Amino acid sequence: MTRGLRHVRRGPRRIVLGVAASAAGRCLLVPLLGEPSRQPEFQKLAGPEPALDLALLRGFLDKSEIAKVETAVQDAQVWGIDDRDDDLGYAHEVWRMEEVMQQNFGETFKKLIDTAWSVERRMWGNILEFVFPEIEYIEYDVARLGRPGSISRHADNDSMITTVVLLSDPSEFEGGINCFDGDKAARQVPLQRGDAVFFFGDACHHWITPVTRGRRAILQMELRNRYEEPPRRVLRRKMPWPSGVRIKTVNKQQFSEMSWFQICAGTC
Ligand SMILES: [Fe+2]
Repeated sequence: MTRGLRHVRRGPRRIVLGVAASAAGRCLLVPLLGEPSRQPEFQKLAGPEPALDLALLRGFLDKSEIAKVETAVQDAQVWGIDDRDDDLGYAHEVWRMEEVMQQNFGETFKKLIDTAWSVERRMWGNILEFVFPEIEYIEYDVARLGRPGSISRHADNDSMITTVVLLSDPSEFEGGINCFDGDKAARQVPLQRGDAVFFFGDACHHWITPVTRGRRAILQMELRNRYEEPPRRVLRRKMPWPSGVRIKTVNKQQFSEMSWFQICAGTC
C-alpha cells in the first residue's frame, strides 16, 4: 500500500518521493534517478577487503545544517524508538526522523541522500535505483543514562551504506570514538563536529568506545534497497510534553492498539 505521494523538483526532471505505509507505520521510498547532484571528494580509508573500506568526509555538515538537525529532532512528529536486537549491548537513546527531515529540511535531507548515494556508487556499487532511508538522531548522554554510553560491535542489517555524522563538539564528551573491523586490530576514526564517515553497514562491523563523560550526539542514516517494517515506537520524544497533557503508561498490547490520533492527542 502506498499513500501520500509528493512531487518535488530535482534538476530537470520530476521525481516522486513515496511514502510506503503499513499497519505498523510509514517508511520513505526515495528513487535514485540519473546522477547524484553531489560528487564530493572524500578520503578513502582502505580496509583488509573492499567491503570494509571506509570513506571519510571532513566538514560534511556545517553549523547551520547541524542546527537544522537539532531543530528537526524537537519536532512533535519525531518519536523515540527501540529497535535494537535484544542481544545487542547498547546504552543510548534513538529518535527516528527521516520524514521530518524530508518535510521540513528538504535541502539537508537531499544533501544526505545524494552524498551517500554518490559515495556508495564510487566505493561499492551495490545500491539500486531506489532506497528506503532511515535517519536517526542518536544520543549518548552519560547524565541521562546514568552510566557510560555505548554500542557494542555489530553490523547494520541490509544497509548498503551507513552514514554517521558527529553533531557534538568532541570537547563535550570523552570516548565515543567510531571503531571498525580491521585486518588484525580495530581501526579507530576520530571525528570532529560535522565530519561524516561512510561504510558498508551490512558488511563492516562497527562500534564505539564507551562515552565516559558528557553528551555525544550523532546523525545516522542507513540506506536499504528493501523495505523494513518500521521499528517499535516508544512513548518518548525529544521535545518536552506540553503542559496539560496527561502521560499514562500503557503496555505493549495496549500501545499496538492505539491510533496515532490517540497518541498525538494525549488521550491515552
Ligand atoms: Fe550500526
